[in-house]
Amino acid sequence: MKTFKAHSHQFSTLFFFLLFLPFLNSQTARQESNTGYTCSTTKNQTNNYPCQSYAFYRAISPNYLDLATISDLFSLSRLAISKPSNISSPSTPLLPNQPLLIPITCSCNFINTTFGSISYSNITYTIKPKDTFFIVSTFNFQNLTTYPSVEVVNPNLVATNLPIGGDAVFPIFCKCPEKTRNSSRFMISYVVQPSDNVSSIALMFGATEKSIVDVNGDKLYDYDTIFVPVDKLPVLKQPSTVAVPSPAPSQNSNGGGSDDDKSGTVRGLAIGLGILGFLLILILGIWFYREILSKKEKKERDIYLGEKGRKGDEYKKKGMDVNFMANVSDCLDKYRVFGFDELVEATDGFDESFLIQGCVYKGEIDGQVYAIKKMKWNAYEELKILQKVNHGNLVKLEGFCIEPEESNCYLVYEYVENGSLYSWLHEDKNEKLNWVRRLRIAIDIANGLLYIHEHTRPKVVHKDIKSSNILLDSNMRAKIANFGLAKTGINAITMHIVGTQGYISPEYLTDGVVSTKMDVFSFGVVLLELISGKEVIDEEGNVLWASAIKTFEVKNEQEKARRLKDWLDKAILKETLSMESLMGVLSVAIACLHRDPSKRPSIIDIVYSLTKCEENGFELSDDGFSSQRLVAR
Ligand SMILES: *[C@@H]1O[C@H](CO)[C@@H](O)[C@H](O)[C@H]1NC(C)=O
Ligand SMILES: *[C@@H]1O[C@H](CO)[C@@H](O)[C@H](O)[C@H]1NC(C)=O
Ligand SMILES: *[C@@H]1O[C@H](CO)[C@@H](O)[C@H](O)[C@H]1NC(C)=O
Ligand SMILES: *[C@@H]1O[C@H](CO)[C@@H](O)[C@H](O)[C@H]1NC(C)=O
Ligand SMILES: *[C@@H]1O[C@H](CO)[C@@H](O)[C@H](O)[C@H]1NC(C)=O
Ligand SMILES: *[C@@H]1O[C@H](CO)[C@@H](O)[C@H](O)[C@H]1NC(C)=O
Ligand SMILES: *[C@@H]1O[C@H](CO)[C@@H](O)[C@H](O)[C@H]1NC(C)=O
Repeated sequence: MKTFKAHSHQFSTLFFFLLFLPFLNSQTARQESNTGYTCSTTKNQTNNYPCQSYAFYRAISPNYLDLATISDLFSLSRLAISKPSNISSPSTPLLPNQPLLIPITCSCNFINTTFGSISYSNITYTIKPKDTFFIVSTFNFQNLTTYPSVEVVNPNLVATNLPIGGDAVFPIFCKCPEKTRNSSRFMISYVVQPSDNVSSIALMFGATEKSIVDVNGDKLYDYDTIFVPVDKLPVLKQPSTVAVPSPAPSQNSNGGGSDDDKSGTVRGLAIGLGILGFLLILILGIWFYREILSKKEKKERDIYLGEKGRKGDEYKKKGMDVNFMANVSDCLDKYRVFGFDELVEATDGFDESFLIQGCVYKGEIDGQVYAIKKMKWNAYEELKILQKVNHGNLVKLEGFCIEPEESNCYLVYEYVENGSLYSWLHEDKNEKLNWVRRLRIAIDIANGLLYIHEHTRPKVVHKDIKSSNILLDSNMRAKIANFGLAKTGINAITMHIVGTQGYISPEYLTDGVVSTKMDVFSFGVVLLELISGKEVIDEEGNVLWASAIKTFEVKNEQEKARRLKDWLDKAILKETLSMESLMGVLSVAIACLHRDPSKRPSIIDIVYSLTKCEENGFELSDDGFSSQRLVAR
């Protein structure tokens, strides 16, 4: 007993040292709290806000080791990160510490007259259990922001009592270069690491030491954000092949060399004992860990399920929660209730190889393939909406599953074979969509929207129409997916802005106005994608719909047609196309993008116009007239 105590004392001293070693070692720890970097909103020649900039981020275990979760964190597409980061395949897992460049839009935001303005990029984060401003700033956002600054930009949130499931803005620190002749094009936000010095940072980003000192001063503080001015993005060195854990080599050497000499036996014994000792420690460790874990779990479960749950063993066995079941009881006859074990079996324990995208897995149950979406408790909204809608151009919900142990809910959808429209338009595929298919897809989406806007009571607004939420089935017919953000309340004003940049309508972004016309706007953006094959936000941060409006502002129809030819997706330029059909779709798209929502066409008009375009397309490709056709160069 005594020796144990002595040991434990030694241990704690050692532990203490290990814990404080980093602090003793570095004299450059940040001194004061940082509420952000001031900027000036006054419009003068040198003011350059807002601007495109980048933040340097490292993949970290355990949560941020793939582009999907990191892009979700920053509300971006995986491609938006993989491109500037020199990563060729966005779906491969990342290694810990793998460097990434995250594109952000930097703006100068006014706080109040006494405080002034600070420059940052708005990143909206949904608060999860156990989150604090400090943890999310230092871990999830890796010190690219600080908790005092988060408090400043979220005056309505009480830091000690954060609403779980609510949204908070995390201001990612950034700076825009001044508009002077010699200034650089970008400022990369970088968090200083204890091992860094100015020369190592300059080397990493291809900047000069002087330019870094000019912007940030000559003293670096650990974990402070600094801004590295560069003219072009540095090319990050990425590990060329991601190490795939190889299957453990088989240990049992059946009847190996039998002529072991004495020393060999001794060595073998020593190794054996070593392994035994190691195993013993391992087993003890695991036992301790499980003991603690199971106690904690039991406590949590008890709190969670309460009296009812403990008695209702049957529910628990089936993996359902009593309260939730009461909420969704009206859906029960419509949908199949899957057992959690069925889903685990179908997806090999939600193994990454079954991941389709985000938190959607592919799994086969009873010979039928499904798409299984893993969600937290917020699934009820989507379920409520989906049970009202049933249409060939909407992805069908087949069933669901509740798993109270980790308070997860799973929605099980029909599996749509050919993946997202986004992947067909923007990722390398052997086959490209031809114009007839694209137009058909546009009409399918419009019909899906027509159904939710006009034939559902109350009306449903999808709120997140984008090419990655359009799925294509085996016949290349389109289905609208992901009603996770959908709303039944129409013409409401919301402060809770959700959606995807590049698709969000201006009135929703600025005033939070929710109406069917916001889906019409996003649909207009999808039409532009179909016509041009371009991404909705390019590498320089230009928004597709804005540049389309600028390009096609001309009155002259011939000039418009000429510009359209320049603008078309190269893949469809090779076809024999009906110019009339193309121009028709373009004008629908431009009409959908009208700034004033009341001037945008209704979905009924859109379906009508697009159907006309389709008829024109067929007529012309059937007869031989080429006067109105655009023939490939
Ligand atoms: C423009 O703004 C900068 C600060 O952003 C300030 O230093 C400069 O004096 C201003 N120039 C003029 C002409 O107002
Ligand atoms: C960022 O958020 C702040 C407050 O939430 C808002 O005033 C500002 O306009 C937003 N900026 C951008 C670029 O969205
Ligand atoms: C962020 O800064 C804190 C110290 O303020 C440090 O302990 C932590 O490791 C940093 N986080 C990352 C991801 O580097
Ligand atoms: C201005 O904002 C700061 C930071 O949120 C706050 O501490 C201060 O009280 C505010 N001042 C006024 C006059 O609202
Ligand atoms: C701009 O850069 C050039 C060469 O890099 C240098 O000769 C010139 O003095 C600089 N001008 C200013 C105003 O700093
Ligand atoms: C900066 O750090 C690098 C290694 O990280 C080291 O080789 C170099 O000597 C350091 N330079 C200075 C000026 O401390
Ligand atoms: C990208 O990363 C690879 C792998 O590390 C590296 O060989 C290459 O030089 C980098 N740059 C470009 C432009 O591909």
